[in-house]
Amino acid sequence: MSTATNSFPVIRREISGMSIDSIVQKYGTPCYVYDMATIKQKVNDLRAFDLIRYAQKACSNIAILDRLRRLGVVVDAVSAGEVHRALAAGYGPEGIVYTADVFDREALALVKKLGLHVNCGSPDMIEQLGQVQPGASVTLRVNPGFGHGHSQKTNTGGPQSKHGIWHGDIDRCLRLADLHNIVIDGLHMHIGSGTDLEHLSQVCDALERVAKQIGRTITTISAGGGLPVPYRVGQSYVDIDKYFQLWDQTRKRLEKDFGHAIRMEIEPGRYLVAESGYLIAEIRAVKNMGENRFYLLDAGFNDLARPILYGAYHPISIYHRGAVPSADALFDTVVGGPLCESGDIFTQEEGGFVAKRALPPASIGDYLILEVAGAYGFVMSSNYNGRFRAPEVLIEDGQLHCIRERETFDDLIRGEKIPAAPIG
Ligand code: LLP
Repeated sequence: MSTATNSFPVIRREISGMSIDSIVQKYGTPCYVYDMATIKQKVNDLRAFDLIRYAQKACSNIAILDRLRRLGVVVDAVSAGEVHRALAAGYGPEGIVYTADVFDREALALVKKLGLHVNCGSPDMIEQLGQVQPGASVTLRVNPGFGHGHSQKTNTGGPQSKHGIWHGDIDRCLRLADLHNIVIDGLHMHIGSGTDLEHLSQVCDALERVAKQIGRTITTISAGGGLPVPYRVGQSYVDIDKYFQLWDQTRKRLEKDFGHAIRMEIEPGRYLVAESGYLIAEIRAVKNMGENRFYLLDAGFNDLARPILYGAYHPISIYHRGAVPSADALFDTVVGGPLCESGDIFTQEEGGFVAKRALPPASIGDYLILEVAGAYGFVMSSNYNGRFRAPEVLIEDGQLHCIRERETFDDLIRGEKIPAAPIG
């Protein structure tokens, strides 16, 4: 696996060999497009691990889940809804792990009904599972006391995080497990999303310490997710070989200690799908506000929320429907959406500060593509401002497949009811 840095084009004509114009002709804008070849390549990058467990929260369309299942990837579910998605994509209960910090009542009932393996993020979950499924085996998700993410909102370790079982609470969990005849056979740590190798590496030592405390019942360890991908020119990939080696050494030490084989899982979301995804929008207005030049799109933060939530940076390219300008003539531009809210800006930094991006000149009717949008893109979209959620399209073996249709007016008001008017 290379650690090469990435470059991103500012002018784009096609996605995985499919002309952008042909995609828009068929599906309109805004539109999410995923390239299956990229997803396959990302799965192959991680084959050294015994098991790849996809954190489906990153992009949970059942077509993507189906294809990952066919590639031998199992799945993580964080809610009853995600369990249903996995089932709809053809997974059996053995391919699904329920990972959460709480059981809502629906999820607990489903876990019991299907006999799902649970990754417990709080001691209370051990107790609640013990009541409905005594004798079950579980994984513990342990908060090692430190964490790191691309934003404070995606840091899932340390005392400020609500996630996982505090590393000092292991004895209590062991006692609770004994009380309910529960076997702790897995140990999992996930310190945050979009972190770096330095922080990820610290997890190995922390996990080894906790594993020894739990003891010989452990047969699976999980490195969690969190692998970053480059979003900016010059950012590099984590060295996957090096990362695997670190985990493999930890695994081998535990195997020696325990005298049995240990299975090693990884649980990526972003890494598998981020770079496969593109959000294509149409430029609907070009205007100057004081010294700032704006491209306003037909996609907003209802379609891609990462910039407004985290100040996240997504590479941007333009598809020109007319003459294609030189890629050297770039102008500082602000890119925003159609929503009635000033925060509806794709080029913003954390804290909501509007930033500019060097982009080619473009006109109304040209397409603007927000790239590296496959992870936490569509799944975090909403109907805010009465907007339809976009269609999702998969490119596979040179074919375009619609894997989710654009919503309609009926979808927008589904389930809503007007009660009889009050009398008088
Ligand atoms: N495992 C667990 C227990 C998690 O909570 C997560 C992400 C993952 C795996 C996958 O992490 P990944 O490999 O994708 O970094 N909406 C945010 C990211 C939230 C991540 C939540 N948990 C964003 O757009 O950056």
